[in-house]
Amino acid sequence: MGLVLGIESSCDETAAALVTSDRTILAQRIASQDAEHAPYGGVVPEIAARAHAERLAPMIAAVLEDAGKTLDDCDAIAATAGPGLIGGVMVGLVSAKALAMASDTPLIAVNHLEGHALSPRLADPTLDFPYLLLLASGGHCQILLVEGVGRHTRLATTIDDALGEAFDKSAKVLGLGYPGGPAVERLAKEGDATKVPLPRPLLGSKEPHFSFAGLKSAVLRAKEAGIYADADIAASFQAAALDCVLDRLKFSWDRIDRVPALVVAGGVAANQAIRAGLERFAEERAMRFVAPPPKLCTDNAAMIAWAGCERLALDGFRPDPLDIAARPRWPL
Ligand code: KG4
Ligand code: ZN
Repeated sequence: MGLVLGIESSCDETAAALVTSDRTILAQRIASQDAEHAPYGGVVPEIAARAHAERLAPMIAAVLEDAGKTLDDCDAIAATAGPGLIGGVMVGLVSAKALAMASDTPLIAVNHLEGHALSPRLADPTLDFPYLLLLASGGHCQILLVEGVGRHTRLATTIDDALGEAFDKSAKVLGLGYPGGPAVERLAKEGDATKVPLPRPLLGSKEPHFSFAGLKSAVLRAKEAGIYADADIAASFQAAALDCVLDRLKFSWDRIDRVPALVVAGGVAANQAIRAGLERFAEERAMRFVAPPPKLCTDNAAMIAWAGCERLALDGFRPDPLDIAARPRWPL
């Protein structure tokens, strides 16, 4: 059985975790930087990188201690190597390289998006490849056919904002602060989704794209009109976003061979209304619906350690070289 130390530092969460190849999270810690970034209404890359640099080393030490393990017990050290805010990614990746070198342990450079994409398999041992995946976070909005470790086909992606970004920007317009997704979801529960007419960009489009910029602007105009309740704007926004997601999923579904499961991952997967819509979509097509627990949906290091476990288990596994570069962009 393998044991992997995972490190995540690509955005505003500093995280470390120890995960075994039989899917046990032996220890995990996560430090959010919400308080540092809140005054700016979004993540400030320089502040994020500095906070990772201060917190990561003691956090790794704490995680090892929590689990009663040492670096010598680890079969690999996995760190996010991109995509993300480059300063933060470098802090995590360079830390992993140093630990790997000092303990003579294999290094695994993980694509953060693949971490999200494989996270449902950490939570659910029965989830086999292939599956249709909606990956919706603050930086990404994609539909992927996941056929194996390192084997994905992108079926749709956003041409402007990510879905989480649209939630965050709508939250800002409504004065709900940062991060906005959970706040919009809470407010939407008190609102009427039929009250505010909002656009559904690219609905029915024959191109494999999402677009949320127009929806975000419409939310701003609705707020400025001064005639709608904030809760109704939040509910109407969430309903419009879900319609767009379901339309693009249908587009993707129509273009692939049947797959047994629909999976959602990324921060927006924590949203119960989005989950419910996806569940209905899957049910109508006789697919299983798999959503990891919300804690595994938002950024965390257990998913990075798990992606390391998956790589380690591949035939012909090769560690990554110590000179591998951190990548701000790294499409799946
Ligand atoms: O995956 P994640 O933690 O970080 C990225 O890799 O981007 O995703 C964070 C995003 C943020 O935009 C946040 O507002 C959104 O996920 N999010 C939500 C909810 N919880 C987090 N969006 C809608 N509803 C939620 N409950
Ligand atoms: Zn993420």
